[in-house]
Amino acid sequence: MDIKVMRGDVTKVKTPALIVNLFEGVKGPGGATGAVDKALNGAISQLIADGEIKGKTGELTLIHTFGRVAPTRILVAGLGKQEEFSVNTVREVMGNACRFLRGKGISSACTIAHGAGIAGLDPQATGQAIAEGSFLGLYRFKQYLATNDVDGGELKEVTIVEGNADKIGPLNEGVRIGRVTAEGVMLARDMANEPANVMTPTRMSEIARQVADAEGLEVSILERKQMEELGMGALVGVARGSHQPPKLIVLKYSGDPDNPSKNLGIIGKGITFDSGGISLKPAEGMQNMKGDMSGGATVIGALQVLGRLRPKVNVTGLVPATENMPGGEAQRPGDIVRALNGKTIEVINTDAEGRLVLSDAMVYAKRQGVTRMVDIATLTGAMVIALGRVCTGIMGNDQELIDQVIAAGNAAGERMWQFPMFAEYKEALKSNVADMMNVAGNRDAGSIVAAKFLSEFSEGIPWAHLDIAGTYRSEADKGYLVKGSTGVPVRTLVNLALAGAS
Ligand code: BES
Ligand code: MN
Ligand code: ZN
Repeated sequence: MDIKVMRGDVTKVKTPALIVNLFEGVKGPGGATGAVDKALNGAISQLIADGEIKGKTGELTLIHTFGRVAPTRILVAGLGKQEEFSVNTVREVMGNACRFLRGKGISSACTIAHGAGIAGLDPQATGQAIAEGSFLGLYRFKQYLATNDVDGGELKEVTIVEGNADKIGPLNEGVRIGRVTAEGVMLARDMANEPANVMTPTRMSEIARQVADAEGLEVSILERKQMEELGMGALVGVARGSHQPPKLIVLKYSGDPDNPSKNLGIIGKGITFDSGGISLKPAEGMQNMKGDMSGGATVIGALQVLGRLRPKVNVTGLVPATENMPGGEAQRPGDIVRALNGKTIEVINTDAEGRLVLSDAMVYAKRQGVTRMVDIATLTGAMVIALGRVCTGIMGNDQELIDQVIAAGNAAGERMWQFPMFAEYKEALKSNVADMMNVAGNRDAGSIVAAKFLSEFSEGIPWAHLDIAGTYRSEADKGYLVKGSTGVPVRTLVNLALAGAS
């Protein structure tokens, strides 16, 4: 798909379909939609009066124009309530509209710059949202399908048509940033949608290398032997049950080399398949555990975006990548391992492996010079119970950093909700024989207890933890999400890094 910006009159542009919009409750459309309505002798107003177009979120109405205006079809997209409108509405509308048009076999479309008119959105933000929404809504993972198994053709081209010359530059800049950002999200989606027999730790490390070579990032990949020598007993312990060699992927983007004291670490859980290990998971739904490396994939995706945008910041991405399998060498419940910071862990449940691999990666991140860190992990089923699939859970040891991450997420439309970290939650991890157990004796507050475990490895620097167990995957095509991997929170991580740019 390609996306462009063009100066022109929307009623005069020759296109198979023009996307316009309407707020809920508006009876007489204004702006670009109003111009089209007028050229159609009030056809849109008539459909509103007839109650067929209401402007509700997600509503799409296709009108054939039979030569009365240059576009062959007008697609009126509902924007929902005006007071709830945001840049995220634009992303969602474009995702839905592009998928709808593709389903009709339409290969090229134009759109107005939603929100950049009366709603007062910054035209650059609008351009970015249109690009992100279009790319991400049209995304498909069809690697393993015969081409004729995919219905419809492709929507190959989207053009933003804008009459105001002053907005063309900002719209183009927004489209450039939006394209690069969407490509990072799609890389993360591709990685997480791949089956675990393909997306092994080795494959993840190869992709990280390719990204590093293409974008001029520093890369190093630690092998099992190096992890053992360094003393990463927790990460190596998880890897024992698998024939796949583990990898600790480290990617560095240095956009501000004069300020090494400002270095954001982003650490993504990279379990390429989580069978549970000896504490084996039930069969139902286990196939989704190919996505247990989603946090790691989003780190690699975000680094690709930063490598292309080249802001003045330093970001180090780390991905502890391994399978969690129940092989003959697998670690057992009751085993005690020693993490990189010397703390000992009694492994009560081998299925609580994410916190084990992250603990060593977090300590290593600090040693690599990061001054604050964010980890991203499909960490606990309890998070899906608590928040469902609507938002990501966030916890941490530093309210300022947490607030920055939440703000970066809100701007991206990747919502988060914070959980408490009261000291009492740690008591559940007390072990008789080691510094801590990897799980509590009961299921109370499972997501918080997991975060409390991780906090033991934050090494005295600001740290935030994102539990994406509910948001890494979508069950349906909706807005700019499609069934399968979501790529959440690549765009939050990019925003967070950009916010630190000087
Ligand atoms: N990867 C899972 C968590 C998960 C579950 C992510 C469902 C996405 C959807 C994690 O490694 C895990 O197995 N967690 C256990 C922890 C428990 C043993 C304390 C869980 O949530 O059951
Ligand atoms: Mn697990
Ligand atoms: Zn897991």
